[in-house]
Amino acid sequence: MSPSRIRVPDFREKKSRGEKIAMLTAYDATMARLLDRAGVDALLVGDSVAMVVLGYENTLAVTLEDMLHHTRAVARGASRALVVSDMPFLSYQVGTDEAVRNAGRLLQEGGASAIKLEGGRPVLDVVRRMVDVGIPVMGHLGLQPQSVHQVGGYIKQATRPQDADALVADAIALQDAGAFAVVLESIPEDVAKMASTALDIPTIGIGAGPYCDGQVLVSSDMLGLFDRFVPSFVKQYANLAETVTAATRSYVDDVREGRYPQTLSKISGVPNR
Ligand code: KIV
Repeated sequence: MSPSRIRVPDFREKKSRGEKIAMLTAYDATMARLLDRAGVDALLVGDSVAMVVLGYENTLAVTLEDMLHHTRAVARGASRALVVSDMPFLSYQVGTDEAVRNAGRLLQEGGASAIKLEGGRPVLDVVRRMVDVGIPVMGHLGLQPQSVHQVGGYIKQATRPQDADALVADAIALQDAGAFAVVLESIPEDVAKMASTALDIPTIGIGAGPYCDGQVLVSSDMLGLFDRFVPSFVKQYANLAETVTAATRSYVDDVREGRYPQTLSKISGVPNR
């Protein structure tokens, strides 16, 4: 029997039971299937797809159509994990109606069960409208990569007391607007602890220390697949970049040296596809 699906209300219940939530990004069906099989609770189709899959410098270039394409793939690969799709830059900032329609498309056409968007008080109306029409929303505070130009880089946030207070107030406002969870990215761990204590909904940390109710990492960072830049807080559980390069070198050598393929007469019992 396949394990039962994680649903949006399970997030709050997990927090009330003190169970940590494990979330990873995924961008395609094969990886979604593997991560899902390993027991991850939620798969985030992050707009980090821009850098780790599409080769862009930052997340700003990703479009709603890109996100739909990758969300559909992840939804096809996931059987237990909750699929959360990131709303890309400009898909929710221009107007509430447009934001709701775009979020709805990620559920209706993409097969996501929830969306994530960046920001606090400026996006509260949008969050309320989405939740009103049945679109579950995950918030995202602290470092907000879609504001990279305004902030001036990928810099730790909420380091001054007034910014820490503002972040906690934003987190509470998102909860009050109906968000079911909030990602906290690159903030001091004591600020993450304050926010996690203040909220009934779970906080999902990335570079925010151990006191959050769950953690999220970019899967390609955690697996050592994306080797252009690795944030300092990432724990690498594998070095797939090295594995892929070594395996590919062996294949290239085999082809060049005539070791692969062998004639069928030399390989017994191997069906010819
Ligand atoms: O796009 C992404 O991968 C994210 C995570 C860093 C939370 O938003």
